[in-house]
Amino acid sequence: MAGSVQASMAERMARVVPGGVNSNVRLEVADRFVARGLGARIWDVDGNDYVDYVLGQGPAFLGHAHPRILARVQAEIAHGMTFGAQSEVELLAAEALIDALGWAEMVRIGMTSTETVQAAFRLARTRTGRPLFLRFRGQYHGWLDNVLISPAEPTPAPASRGQLPEALDQSITIEWNDVASLRGTLDRHGDRIAAVITEPMMLNAGAILPEAGFLETIRAECSARGILLILDETITGFRLGPRGAVGRFGVVPDLAIYGKAVAGGFPASVLAGSAELMSEFASGTNHSGTFNANVLACAAIVAAMEVMADGEVHATVEATGSDLMDQIRSLLSERDLPVQVRGLPAAFHLSYDDDLPVRNYADLLRGDAARYGRLVHAARDHGLWLTGRGIWYVSAAHDRTTTADTLERLARAIAVAETGAVRA
Ligand SMILES: Cc1ncc(COP(=O)(O)O)c(C=O)c1O
Repeated sequence: MAGSVQASMAERMARVVPGGVNSNVRLEVADRFVARGLGARIWDVDGNDYVDYVLGQGPAFLGHAHPRILARVQAEIAHGMTFGAQSEVELLAAEALIDALGWAEMVRIGMTSTETVQAAFRLARTRTGRPLFLRFRGQYHGWLDNVLISPAEPTPAPASRGQLPEALDQSITIEWNDVASLRGTLDRHGDRIAAVITEPMMLNAGAILPEAGFLETIRAECSARGILLILDETITGFRLGPRGAVGRFGVVPDLAIYGKAVAGGFPASVLAGSAELMSEFASGTNHSGTFNANVLACAAIVAAMEVMADGEVHATVEATGSDLMDQIRSLLSERDLPVQVRGLPAAFHLSYDDDLPVRNYADLLRGDAARYGRLVHAARDHGLWLTGRGIWYVSAAHDRTTTADTLERLARAIAVAETGAVRA
């Protein structure tokens, strides 16, 4: 990389932007500058191409620079972005979302899921008059003080310097897929708990599926105790199927948060729920934002809902992703590597660990993260764009050609990572 265009850009960037990145999640790739993306590939400013399984941390579910999304956004923003009043495309986006989701009656459209999670908490506290929420270890709900935890510790601890530790007293954290712990915690603290918040499938850590009956048990316990169920569908929404995890797992929440795939790669986040609950925002419960439901976000949502309407997109992702998972498994077992490929075709996870089942975050910690880190590092030098934490996102633009390229590049990256061989 030394002497490359991106190396000199990284040097300049580090002088004007702390760490050379505008989101701490990107510190591990501070040396890379992307010039463009198209479909399932991105190109860096030095002209290297990568098959992309990061997809901007999930949003580019339809592929980069999808022509229908771009055309709609370009047409709408030509007339302005924010007006301090409503726009027609905002109305169309809300109607399209409700139509697509099937279970929700009202939505609020914002910019990031970090904010939308907080709006959901505020609504849950309004409704129940209770202060606490229950959450699960290893799940991520944004970077604010009351939700950012260091999952390496069994007891929640701040994950950042400067974080107010007391803010974590608003929540109780337990391991996922543990019904006994769930019931015990609810027995002890249920009358002070406003909401249980969960990713319906653990996609920030390990692509861990809910065990049979787990989500249903959360749902039933919440209903019985007057606690709200908040599904954080920021990643799962519109990715695991046209109706997200609600459609896939059949559990209907009181509130759900959508982000990433909801707007075809553009910035938007959505809170959805019943009219009765969501109407609290019109009677004393505040949710605000200068850029909420701006024209760009809403045009992208409308276009994304149209592109995903006929089920083709999800069928393609399922077929491509499941073939890719199979082929990666074969490649790894040919090389006798102890890697588990776990999850669903639209989002799966690789980790160097034993064959024991991974049910929760504690199980995931058995894996050799450093060994996987070496693979990711080598993969980036061989044209594969992967997340450091193990998740692989598949888009509707991935196909047989990207799978073939991926296998060939992965084989070379493994050779380097496992033997310390020099760059091919
Ligand atoms: C499940 C979940 N919730 C909330 C967030 C926060 O979303 P944002 O980065 O849009 O603030 C994320 C981000 O990755 C997430 O995965």
